[in-house]
Amino acid sequence: MTPSPSPVPADAALLPPHAPLPLYYGDEDEHQAFLRRIFDDTAPDYDRIERVLAFGSGPWYRRSALKRAGLAAGAQVLDVGIGTGLVAREALTLIGPAGRLVGVDPSAGMMKQIDLPGVELVEGKAEALPRADASSDFLSMGYALRHISDVAAAFGEFHRVLRPGGRVLVLEISKPESRLGTQLLKSYMRAVVPLIARFIGKRSDTAELWRYYWDTIEACIPPAQVMEALRAAGFRDVQRHVELGIFSEYTAIKPE
Ligand SMILES: C[S@@+](CC[C@H](N)C(=O)[O-])C[C@H]1O[C@@H](n2cnc3c(N)ncnc32)[C@H](O)[C@@H]1O
Repeated sequence: MTPSPSPVPADAALLPPHAPLPLYYGDEDEHQAFLRRIFDDTAPDYDRIERVLAFGSGPWYRRSALKRAGLAAGAQVLDVGIGTGLVAREALTLIGPAGRLVGVDPSAGMMKQIDLPGVELVEGKAEALPRADASSDFLSMGYALRHISDVAAAFGEFHRVLRPGGRVLVLEISKPESRLGTQLLKSYMRAVVPLIARFIGKRSDTAELWRYYWDTIEACIPPAQVMEALRAAGFRDVQRHVELGIFSEYTAIKPE
């Protein structure tokens, strides 16, 4: 299929998902190099740490969110930021043999961990999807929003590759609304999870990834801005469903 990422208009406002984090990188080039290194290096540890972090509920939760977003049998799915395939695995159970799934991710290391028959894997980024216009019925992106460089460009691409009537689901962790909730989650994710990662991870930078994970959650643009960016990209019925105060599910539909 011919890659046809949509050109971002020169005057389009850039919408980074968070302010720069100088503890980890300097400029945007260093940011991209940091992301590539951290995901490529720590990929063999990702599923194990994620299981601990989600207390084993990861597959069940991802499947429920996909169902809530309307993913059905036979759909042509594009999973952006497929990583090691945790969202894709659940999507496959819902779309069945008549469906088809393509995964996109810039990290070859993460995608090397995937063992899902029939899935097509393509190296690429949300901001310039290597897919044709109107080629998907459903687009999912799980926990990658905080890593893209321009949310507006990514949502513009989501709109381009979905067919009219197609649906998008963006899963993200959001800061709790209360200060106490934020402090509790911060202590858990910035201290406990990296410690667990140090013990059960095999890579030296796995603990760093999970510290970075929290720092991006804390610095992330608020949910209202994510929803506004979806509307600005041309989506309708933009909604946010929240589980346990932190698991945000953004859904939207490309108008017919
Ligand atoms: C935390 S993992 C999530 C993986 C998987 N979706 C899940 O639910 O577990 C984030 C993924 O986003 C990918 N990523 C980083 N920058 C990206 C970009 N610009 N576009 C798409 N994916 C990106 C990373 O390589 C990584 O595999």
